[in-house]
Amino acid sequence: MSEMPSRTPIVAGNWKLNLTVGEALALVKALRAEADGLEGVEVVVGPVATALHPVAGALEGSSIGLAAQNTHWEDRGAFTGELSPELLKDVGCTHVIVGHSERRQLFGETDEGVNRKVRAVLAKGLTPILCVGETLAQREAGETLEVVLGQVEAGLEGVEDASAVVLAYEPVWAIGTGKTAKPEDAQEVHAAIRGKLGQVAPRVRILYGGSVKPANAAELLAQEDIDGALVGGASLRADTFVPIIRAALPGG
Ligand code: PGA
Repeated sequence: MSEMPSRTPIVAGNWKLNLTVGEALALVKALRAEADGLEGVEVVVGPVATALHPVAGALEGSSIGLAAQNTHWEDRGAFTGELSPELLKDVGCTHVIVGHSERRQLFGETDEGVNRKVRAVLAKGLTPILCVGETLAQREAGETLEVVLGQVEAGLEGVEDASAVVLAYEPVWAIGTGKTAKPEDAQEVHAAIRGKLGQVAPRVRILYGGSVKPANAAELLAQEDIDGALVGGASLRADTFVPIIRAALPGG
């Protein structure tokens, strides 16, 4: 018998290199007022590393999760400038974004390194949000599925239970550009990803990311295999992030 799907959607904000501690705390206060304790959607925020600890304090007692934007795979040692799953857990992180396209493109992250990070995050009981996506050139060359499925396979290598991982499909050409994948094109990629996940596939959350805004969230989230959103620009303000969260609510 195949498993029945039951996937609580996730709306995660990736604040990237934005917001001071003071600005982050003000945003968290607004989010707690409007998006705390909602039934049927998980909300996660991803501040810069210097704001993780204070934001964790401000989120205490709330249902909102806390994501780091990156990690190293080792827990401790001579790795100047790095952070680790152990230390991120220590300050209250619940999630870690791994393999974001900006990390891959601007900071030279490889599939192998991304996989080591995914496994290190899982080993500490945290949830990796594993990002995958094709560039415009790859899409135009008809390589989208090959690239994306290759990144999924490499990122999950050696992972026993893929349902402990959240996947995020983010076409690189849609990130921060105002261009969104057409809902049906995104759905096609999401369905192909799910098709690769084996028995646990019905339980794996696959988020869409890339210029998700209040105006386009509902039609993206209505797609069968889109289980939430990873939101950059629109997550920096409560008045644009909260409507996206609401669009993910059952019947929203
Ligand atoms: P964007 O970023 O919503 O600003 O396009 C998404 C992301 O990079 O996660």
